Amino acid sequence: MKIEISREIERFGPIKIHGVQKVFELDGGLKNAKNDEENNPIIRRIAYDVQHEIQEQMAIVVPVRNEKIKLIEGVLSGIPHHCQVIIVSNSPREPMDRFKLEKDAIEHIGRFMNKKFLIVHQKDVALTRAVEASGYKHLLNKKGEVKNGKAEGMILSTMLAYLCGKKYIGFIDSDNYFPGAVQEYVQEYCAAFHLSNSPYTMARISWHSKPKIVESNLFFAKRGRASEHTNRILNRLISYYTGYGTEIIKTGNAGEHALTMEMAMKLDYSSGYSIEPYHYVNVLEKYGGIIAPPPDDVMKAGVEFYQIESRNPHLHEVKGDQHVKDMSLAAMEVIYQSPICPPLLKANILEDVHNRSLLPVDEDISRSLSYYPALHSADFKKFKEELQNESYAELFTKDLTDYTPEKKDKKVLRETKAAKIKELPNDGQLEVK
Ligand code: GDD
Repeated sequence: MKIEISREIERFGPIKIHGVQKVFELDGGLKNAKNDEENNPIIRRIAYDVQHEIQEQMAIVVPVRNEKIKLIEGVLSGIPHHCQVIIVSNSPREPMDRFKLEKDAIEHIGRFMNKKFLIVHQKDVALTRAVEASGYKHLLNKKGEVKNGKAEGMILSTMLAYLCGKKYIGFIDSDNYFPGAVQEYVQEYCAAFHLSNSPYTMARISWHSKPKIVESNLFFAKRGRASEHTNRILNRLISYYTGYGTEIIKTGNAGEHALTMEMAMKLDYSSGYSIEPYHYVNVLEKYGGIIAPPPDDVMKAGVEFYQIESRNPHLHEVKGDQHVKDMSLAAMEVIYQSPICPPLLKANILEDVHNRSLLPVDEDISRSLSYYPALHSADFKKFKEELQNESYAELFTKDLTDYTPEKKDKKVLRETKAAKIKELPNDGQLEVK
């Protein structure tokens, strides 16, 4: 892959947010191939074999709930062969066992691919017991099952990827119509990890376009309907503290993203579709130095966000207006409820959700989201022990001999009135358009 260097970088204490980087060629050739680009200061070449080395250390998670089996098969066919694929499904098991159908179809194509998929149901009894044994009970509902939600499935699969000994974890939605786009996203995750110097790195895909039919013609829209608003508010949050307006964040809602396992273990998560904007918010909360000074290891190594613009169009299942509204409201809520969200931005958010009819005008943003503390506090030895008789346990190659769960991080207090935050003089930038 040949990719431009980031033109802009927003720095926030130890956090670096790279501006969107454009891909110029999808295939960058082999490591030892003669190539003029080595002398080009603005283009980085990530050789095919370098990407391959990263893929061998990467788990790709495919969350599923009620998708067409043909779509899932297409997505799986696009994932590079050496990635460990983890499919976590929350499809209904009654009255018809949809998960059984999915598992059967996936194992069948796995024979042709000569590939062992790790496929689990989000509410599987053995997994639930393992989560409970690990002490990470936040993920369980009152009935003692793993809660519903995409984020909850992602957190569970992060625990499985950790046991598989993977260094990187990436997420790809299961409703993507283009296997070529899926393959490209994974290559872009690899490019970001290759470019980064930090063990705390996240790659986020900014789609080149999302095709739609408008008046019988294909129209390639640049952004999704929710993302535009999420990005604007996240950028305002950053501007508030830096004192400079910015448009750096273009991937506030990126479902397609990947992290180093070290970062995946350190982050707190939030529920459902708010998980992606919360990545930015939580990193700012934890490491931005606003609430407390960042820990030494993060201060030294830094945290890097890469945003890469893909070449393939992103075509996925359309799930309706209400779904987009709910997703957008969840994104707004997760920013609004953050203790680092200044009162003026809260007012902006409220006005925005009312203007867009995400909430009735007389309603305030409620607290509907759940928050999950960093996974490094879970007891992975116990988690593994509970799963030792499962067919996929052979994939658990992580050596846990010296593993001890870390102490829980101090809880981030979520106050509706972020009263302790200083008013800075750049308030004028924060008005709603
Ligand atoms: N395991 C699991 N559990 N998977 C789920 C669940 C669940 O409860 N709910 C949804 N999924 C799966 C879906 O099957 C799909 O593969 C993926 O998660 C994304 O869910 P969608 O409901 O299709 O979301 P979307 O396509 O509208 O939104 C996507 O793009 C947004 C950015 O525009 C998601 O990735 C969002 O998280 C993202 O913000």
